[in-house]
Parts: sequence; structure tokens; C-alpha cells
Amino acid sequence: MPLQKTNPTQTGAWKKLADHFRKIGNAEMKGYFNEDPERASRFTVQWNDFYVDYSKNRITQETMDLLLSLAEEVQLKDAIQKYFSGDLINETEQRAVLHTALRSAKDAEITVDGINVMPGVFAVKEKIKTFSESIISGEKKGYTGKAFTDVVNIGIGGSDLGPAMVTEALKFYKNHLNVHFVSNVDGDHVHETLKNLDPETTLFVIVSKTFTTQETLSNATTIKNWFLKNAGQEDVAKHFVAVSTNLPKIAEFGIADENIFPMWDWVGGRFSLWSAVGLSIALAVGYDNFNKLLKGAQAMDEHFRTTDFKDNIPVILALIATWYNNFFDAESEAIIPYTQYLSRFSAYLQQGIMESNGKSVDRAGNRVDYQTGTIIWGEPGTNSQHAFFQLIHQGTKLIPADFIGFVHSLHGDKDHHDKLMANFFAQTEALLQGKTEGEVTAELKAKNTGEEELRRLLPFKVFEGNKPTNTILVDKLTPESLGALIAMYEHKIFVQGVIWNIFSYDQWGVELGKQLASNILKDIQSPETARHDSSTTNLLEYFKKKS
Ligand code: F6P
Repeated sequence: MPLQKTNPTQTGAWKKLADHFRKIGNAEMKGYFNEDPERASRFTVQWNDFYVDYSKNRITQETMDLLLSLAEEVQLKDAIQKYFSGDLINETEQRAVLHTALRSAKDAEITVDGINVMPGVFAVKEKIKTFSESIISGEKKGYTGKAFTDVVNIGIGGSDLGPAMVTEALKFYKNHLNVHFVSNVDGDHVHETLKNLDPETTLFVIVSKTFTTQETLSNATTIKNWFLKNAGQEDVAKHFVAVSTNLPKIAEFGIADENIFPMWDWVGGRFSLWSAVGLSIALAVGYDNFNKLLKGAQAMDEHFRTTDFKDNIPVILALIATWYNNFFDAESEAIIPYTQYLSRFSAYLQQGIMESNGKSVDRAGNRVDYQTGTIIWGEPGTNSQHAFFQLIHQGTKLIPADFIGFVHSLHGDKDHHDKLMANFFAQTEALLQGKTEGEVTAELKAKNTGEEELRRLLPFKVFEGNKPTNTILVDKLTPESLGALIAMYEHKIFVQGVIWNIFSYDQWGVELGKQLASNILKDIQSPETARHDSSTTNLLEYFKKKS
């Protein structure tokens, strides 16, 4: 069954939220904390090793109650049930959305078109295990009999960002294999990567759900040609494996049958790291860690599927983000992980969130007259503090931010971790409290600043505060907790898509650029230039003349 098609702005809750916003939109969070000593614990959820404090938001209990009624009115419960049971909720592509099946238990029964998908999922998992273990142990060797030292993942978008982010995030758990990622069609990427590789000891994993993506096929062909300069055609089978739904195209590329890792059209590219798309993760950190990642995600799936909305982490985060997006007109959200290991996390979530919810047509095919997908950005703390935090603290835009930190470090260097976490806590406190005129005055007076100088500096040194943040404090960065963290954002995406009455699992918006690029490539490679707008024509002519 498809998802319900409820215009959120027509719900009673939305109208009440609009009234409520008029009353409390400018209220100070500091006041709420002063009035209610229980506020922090009231607005905190503890689940497994997650401690999620959402009290530093511009919300009251009434806000949360209204947001929860909105979730009821858009029939979120029914939507979750459809999401997990394989209904064709990706309506424009007539597909189920079942990345959750990839981390479900073996004995689960999840059907698509009346067929239980779980035996297939576990057969591929078994193949990932056997293959990755034989490469890591050195049992499988390259064409000259040497063990593999390097792995190159060739893919783009969801076939790159997830594995690249997780491989970086779990670097601490890594084995001896060096894993590289080639994604961009820019030759700099592939040629720079190949410079330091030895064809005798490098394994290539071509990842493309469709196996038609220009970037991936170009890079894979370049790499195969480079390989064949040193090795024979018969050696390709030892060094190239592929992950795709498009089995005929893989065969055309010359990949041996035993080196094919299938996936399914009910797994969206940006949600596919749990499938064989995650093969390079299993190669980098071992199958057991890959499986733990899946187990962590599964635990979050269960929390999301079964917990009351008022205690449900992805639901709460989605509702609060919607509150800012649709009532405060906040345009972006920052995601700030306080660990260098998560340096690719925001880039990964940019695809997950913006490709999913960057839609302007509702599920009935009408243009929406309200805001949908948020702009996502971020970098790890503390680097980001020295880069863009100025704008979050004193700029004119409201930027809700998620702060993600860990109680225990992996390196065990207490001094570094204490300093890191002091910054983590200090930033959300500063964003909440700000600094008043009185405080700035006292500070300047304590430094014996003269009256005139004090008056001159005062406006620049005041911090308004009242900037919203969520604090997501996790015990330790492990494969399990990372799996849960990723799944948490996946479900947040889902909830927001349900509320906004849009289809989160297609991505038609990326097609036009692909089509035009293929037309323009013909123009570049022939003496004639077809008609374009005058700007594009002039640019092409200039490029062709100069290149
Ligand atoms: O950018 C569009 C997109 O279709 C993404 O959704 C997808 O992750 C990426 O291209 C790569 O696609 P494929 O895995 O089919 O090569």
C-alpha cells in the first residue's frame, strides 16, 4: 500500500503550531531553564549507549505535544509499518524501500512481490564474509601469486560516500589493507590514485547499482586498461569484482561470475552501505566488524519501529528539525561530530538527506507551498569552531546544530579527550547562553577598559545566544554505535519525508544534468556545437578553441 497523502499544513496540529510559534518564537531558552529545573532530564532520551539531550531547543512541552500530534495526524505509525514491511513506498519508481532488511535477523520474513528477501540477503552476506576473509588472510592472491595490499572502490554517490565515510570512521579497527576510493570522473582522481598502486597486489571493487553511471564506468575502464598494461585478460578475474543490480552489464564488462555481488532495486543507492556496496568496509575492518555495524543499525531500527514517539530518538530529532525548518524558516542544519574519524559524516549525510528530501512536489503531484529538505553541512569539532562557528554564534541566520560526541576516546589519551570534550560542551552552552551586555561590560571593566572604548566595543562583543542544539553523546565510536548513528539519521529522513508529504526515495533531480552532460560531451568531441543558450555556446566555443 502507498503512503497516505496528507498535506501537513492542512492538519489541526500544523495550525496550532503556527499559533504557538507566534507566541513562543522569540522566547529565550535561558528563561525555560530558569523556570524548570527538570528541563534537561525532561528533554533527554537515553537508549542503549546513546544519551540524547534535546533540551537546548526553542521548545516547550506544548511544542513537543503539538509536534507529536502532527506525527499522528500525518499517520506516521502507519507509514513506519509500511516502510518496514516492504510496501511500495517509493511510488514513482514502484519500489519497496528495504535497507532495513539488510540488517534484519536471518529468520525475519520480509517479502517483496510475495517473495521473502531474507535468504538472498544472507546468501550475499555469506559471500561478503568468505570473500573478504580470503583477501584479508592472503589466501586469495593476485595474478603473480602475491597477497593483496590495496583495495580500490570505484563508485560514486551512494556507491562511494557510505563505504568511504564508514571506512574512515572505523579506521581504528582497520587491518593491513589500504582502501582507496575513486569517484570523480575528473582524471586527477583516478590517475593520482593509480600513481602509488601496484597492479600485482591491488584489488578493484566496482560498485554501481545501475552499472550505467558515466563516472564509474569511465574510471573502471581506465583502471582496467592500466591493469592490462601489466597483466593479461585472464588475470582480470583475480583482481576485479563488481557490486550491482545490473548483472548483464557486469558480464559485458568482463567480470567473472564468481566475482559478482548482487544487490536489489529495493535498496536505494544512498542507503546501500549495508549491502554488498559495503564490501570495501568488510575488506578494511573485517567481516565481523561489518556485521557489528549492521547489528547496531538493527538495534536502532527496533528502537524506531517500536518506541513511543515521545521517547523515539529519530522521531524527536525529525520533529524538532521540522519545527525550525517550517516555522522559524531555518534553511540549514549543521552536523558537528567531535571526532576526526567522522570527518566524512556530513558529506555522507548531505547525499542521504538532501537527495532524499530535496523535493518540491508532494505525493499527490502538486507543488508544495511550504519548505521541505534542509541544507546540511558540517565539519568535525574543534576545527569547525575555528572556521565557521563565528556565523553560527553571531551571524543573522538561525542554524540548528547536532553535536555528536563520545564519552570514551579510542586512543585513550585522556588529556586530548578532556580538551576535546570541554569544547564540545562549551559550544552548546555558549550557543544557549550567549553573552549579555552586562556580562561584556563587567568583562571589559575588569580589564580596565575606558568608558568610551567600552561603549565602542560593546555591540560587537555581545552574543545573543538562544541558538538551538541537540547533544548526541555516545559511549564510544564502535562499529555498533556507528551503525546506530547512521540508522538514526536514515529514520529522521524518513519521518521528515512523511511529514512533508514528499517521496524521499527517488532522485529525478539529478537526471537533467546527466542528460545535458552527455549532449555537451558530443559537442566537445565534434567540430560542431549544437545550439544552446548564448552563455553556454560561448563557453563551449571558448573551451574548444583553447583546449
Ligand atoms: O547521483 C544520482 C545517483 O543515482 C545516486 O542516487 C547514486 O547513489 C549514484 O547516482 C550512483 O549510482 P550507481 O550506484 O547506479 O552508479
